[in-house]
Amino acid sequence: NGRCRLISGNWKMNLNHLEAIALVQKLHYSLRESDYRYAEISVHPPFTALRSIQLLLETDRVPISLGAQNTYFETSGPFTGEVSPSMLNKLGVKYVIVGHSERRDIFGETDEVVSKKTKAVLDAQMIPIVCVGESLKEKQEEMTEAVLTHQVEAVVSGVNSEGCESLVFAYEPKWAIGSGMPAGASDAVRGAEVIRATVSKFHGEEVASKVRVQYGGSVNSANAKEFMEQKEIDGLLVGGASLSSEAFAAVIQA
Ligand code: G3H
Repeated sequence: NGRCRLISGNWKMNLNHLEAIALVQKLHYSLRESDYRYAEISVHPPFTALRSIQLLLETDRVPISLGAQNTYFETSGPFTGEVSPSMLNKLGVKYVIVGHSERRDIFGETDEVVSKKTKAVLDAQMIPIVCVGESLKEKQEEMTEAVLTHQVEAVVSGVNSEGCESLVFAYEPKWAIGSGMPAGASDAVRGAEVIRATVSKFHGEEVASKVRVQYGGSVNSANAKEFMEQKEIDGLLVGGASLSSEAFAAVIQA
C-alpha cells in the first residue's frame, strides 16, 4: 500500500534524561538492521530528555526518529509552561503526538485544541500523530463509530489535503490503554476503516489511502504481530511496553 510502517514508543511521564539515554542505547544495541528496514521507529521521551536523545541519535547515527508527546499551538509568547512546535522542530523532532486521551481527559484538551495543535505541528514541518478513541461507556453504547468520526472530522476539516495525507492517526480505545486488555484485531481494523472513511469524506480516497493508522492500547510482544498483519494497520503506539529496551525490542521484532 506504499505506507511506511511506524512503531512508536510513548514513554509518557517516565524516565529522566539519563535513563532515557540508557534506554535508547540499549534499544539500538538490541535491534538488527532488518528491524530498522521493517519499520520506522520513533521514541517519545518527556521534553526534558529531547535534547539528550537528539545528541545521542546524531552522534551515534542511530536511525531512530525523535518524537514529542505534546506541544502548544502558538509559536511563542506569554504561555508559561508551554513548549512550541518550532522549539520542537529545532530539537530534531519529527513526530508529535497530539490529542492523546490522557491530554484530553486529564488536561481538558478539546477537539478544537487538538485541531489547532495538529495544524501548528504541520506548519512547523513535523508530522502529527493524532490520537483518537472511544471510552468503555461509548463502546458499550455502540458509539465507537460516531466518536471516531467526530474526532477525526475535527482534525481533518481544518487541514488541507497536502497536510492531511502526511498525518498519522493512532486508534487508541481508552479502555485498552494501560489495561492489559487490547482491542481485538478486528476492532482495530474497524477503527482504521472509520478513520480512513472520514478522511476520504473531506479529502478523497487518494488522500485517505496515504494516511497512516497506528493501533495503540496494551500492545506487547505477544499481540504486536497480529495487529501488524492487518493491512489496514500501519504501526503501533506503544506505552508500557516501550519503557524497557527488552520489551520494546521484543515488540518490534515480533
Ligand atoms: O500512547 C500509548 C498508549 O496510551 C498505550 O499505552 O501501551 O501502556 O496501553 P499502553
